[in-house]
Amino acid sequence: MTEQSSHPFRTSQLEAADGPGLNPTRNRTMGDIIAARFSRRGFLKGSMAATAISATVSPAALMSARPAAAQAEGSAFDFPEVTAGVDADHHVAEGYDAQVLLRWGDPVFADAPDFDPRNQSPEAQERQFGYNNDFVGFIPLEGSSEHGLLVVNHEYTNEHLMFPGIVSLQSAPEPTVAPDEETAEADEQTATEAELTPAEPAMPEIVVAPADAARANIEMAAHGGTIIEIRKEDGRWVPVLDGARNRRITATTPMEVTGPAAGHPRLQTAADPTGRAVLGTINNCAGGVTPWGTYVMAEENFHGYFIGTLPEGHAEAANYERYGVPDSSYEWGHFHDRFDVSKEPNEPNRFGWVVEVDVDDPQSTPKKRTALGRFKHEGAESIVAPDGRVVFYLGDDERFDYVYKFVTAGTYDPEDRAANMDLLDEGTLYAARFDEGGGVEWLPLVHGEGPLTAENGFESQADVLIETRRAADALGATPMDRPEDIEPNGANGRVYVMLTNNTEREEANSANPRIDNAFGHIVEIAEEGGDFAATRGTWEILVQCGDPSIAEVGATFSTATSENGWFGMPDNCAVDSEGRLWVSTDGNSPAATGRTDGLWAMDVEGAARGTSRLFYRVPIGAEMCGPCPTPDLATFFVAVQHPGDGGEDWDEFGRPSYYEDLSTRWPDFDDDMPVRPAVVAITRQGGGRIGG
Ligand code: FEO
Ligand code: CA
Ligand code: CA
Ligand code: CA
Repeated sequence: MTEQSSHPFRTSQLEAADGPGLNPTRNRTMGDIIAARFSRRGFLKGSMAATAISATVSPAALMSARPAAAQAEGSAFDFPEVTAGVDADHHVAEGYDAQVLLRWGDPVFADAPDFDPRNQSPEAQERQFGYNNDFVGFIPLEGSSEHGLLVVNHEYTNEHLMFPGIVSLQSAPEPTVAPDEETAEADEQTATEAELTPAEPAMPEIVVAPADAARANIEMAAHGGTIIEIRKEDGRWVPVLDGARNRRITATTPMEVTGPAAGHPRLQTAADPTGRAVLGTINNCAGGVTPWGTYVMAEENFHGYFIGTLPEGHAEAANYERYGVPDSSYEWGHFHDRFDVSKEPNEPNRFGWVVEVDVDDPQSTPKKRTALGRFKHEGAESIVAPDGRVVFYLGDDERFDYVYKFVTAGTYDPEDRAANMDLLDEGTLYAARFDEGGGVEWLPLVHGEGPLTAENGFESQADVLIETRRAADALGATPMDRPEDIEPNGANGRVYVMLTNNTEREEANSANPRIDNAFGHIVEIAEEGGDFAATRGTWEILVQCGDPSIAEVGATFSTATSENGWFGMPDNCAVDSEGRLWVSTDGNSPAATGRTDGLWAMDVEGAARGTSRLFYRVPIGAEMCGPCPTPDLATFFVAVQHPGDGGEDWDEFGRPSYYEDLSTRWPDFDDDMPVRPAVVAITRQGGGRIGG
């Protein structure tokens, strides 16, 4: 490969975050309004723009300014709120400690080499904690909340932050007048800005040098997951490096394909004529821990790992187009033929699944459970239904894709772990149709039923699962605003669906009511009769996110939510052992919301419903992942993902961030150390329940 590649903003690319729209002539977007409110440009000339801004403030906001701290009657939470904002460090509520527990490069085994970021190797990385921690699960050992296995997904890698000497800065072209501004003559605010703001020099862009084989192999070893024993000693968590179950899973770990699509010709490759033996798992985003104590890893944006062009007229062309394969964000295909679709056209069908790992046996072969469908799986949280079947909630994170659930055919046996180990191979996958009247129907993806027949190209259940998206299209599932994590709540029988954003929607529906949904929303489902295995239920919107003081945003946080308590872009979430909802975000930034991402506590019951308050916030450039409370609620694990990835829109830095010039060196703040994604353990000073 000789061309230079430029992909510093891999989060945006691979997560289908809101990039430029397809229609250059559309009207002023939410992004323009927000840019005027939060951008450096906006702050600098804030007084001049005051008149225009005030026109956008809602009457409610004018009558009563947001309280400085959330003050909801009947709230399930009681803690001093963190002040929203932006800086190089993380911040937790007063009275709590935030301990950095595991950083990228930390040893997972007693014999792991010391982290040496200037001389990293694939072999070292395979023994060390991986990059970009996302899902975090805690599996208690012997029922303890102070000793257990931490299971952590490593979603992807940011080369410009990981590797020295590979970034060059390239001048951007001179600024030109954006199409929006040309067409916005009737728009006083935009016209005022254009008159008052001198053209700013364009921000230079990061260009990453092409990968060599060693770098590609380090990236592959930094993907996957970590299983590591941890223990609380004298109030502090420590990794147990000689833990017998400790394990790294990577993009090369041998895996078995199981369930209805296992062995299908569409999964067979030159290296694996059985169609049952895959190497590795990639882009593991959120995930879950099953009631029987296995670790499930959701394969999300797998399309980014494939390069090349399918042979002319190949049978998988339409399938791959529906999933955006190949996307060529990674260069592994230059060194490993299986990631080049021109050489190994079936390999992409072997990714996009949910992987189950038996954490008790570090030699066990992880299983790709095809019964749960193939799409850009975000998470896989589960709950036992009244009849003992187990229900997994699954999001497909792409604009206009669907919410799913999987109901096992067999029932969970709490007394016999072995009897549960293949529950995920048989059951029914459903896609959700959200009806305008507030009903939700779960549509079964079963071969031979409805349109899922040979006439429509589905020869078997394997075809239905390999092309889950096309099957759900045919059934008429409701296109959503990027379904992320979904969590069932056993305490109130409801289910919380994080919908992160979508500014390309041209037609609203009542479950996705904003056309220009820059900040996302949360849908709450009540399954019929409180039975999570039910095939219908009702739904309502818990909250529309964004700044409540800007009328056009249409945010619906309760009025008790403070100026620190609102957020945009819900992504991961957790329901704690008392049924309280915690929401973590991906996409808040100086320009978008004037704040970094964080972890927010969200009331869902009574008078306080819809009240949110900020508990923890991440350093500049990071997104907030994980959130995982221990069963005793004395510890909350959170994952700080891609810290330092950005800084252009932060006044204190104001330029691109990369290995040699980072917007933060969290968490070490050592000039010889790069910024490092890390899992943080939050505890209350003096002990006690997190969140009050
Ligand atoms: Fe990896 Fe949809 O977040
Ligand atoms: Ca996510
Ligand atoms: Ca979760
Ligand atoms: Ca994310």
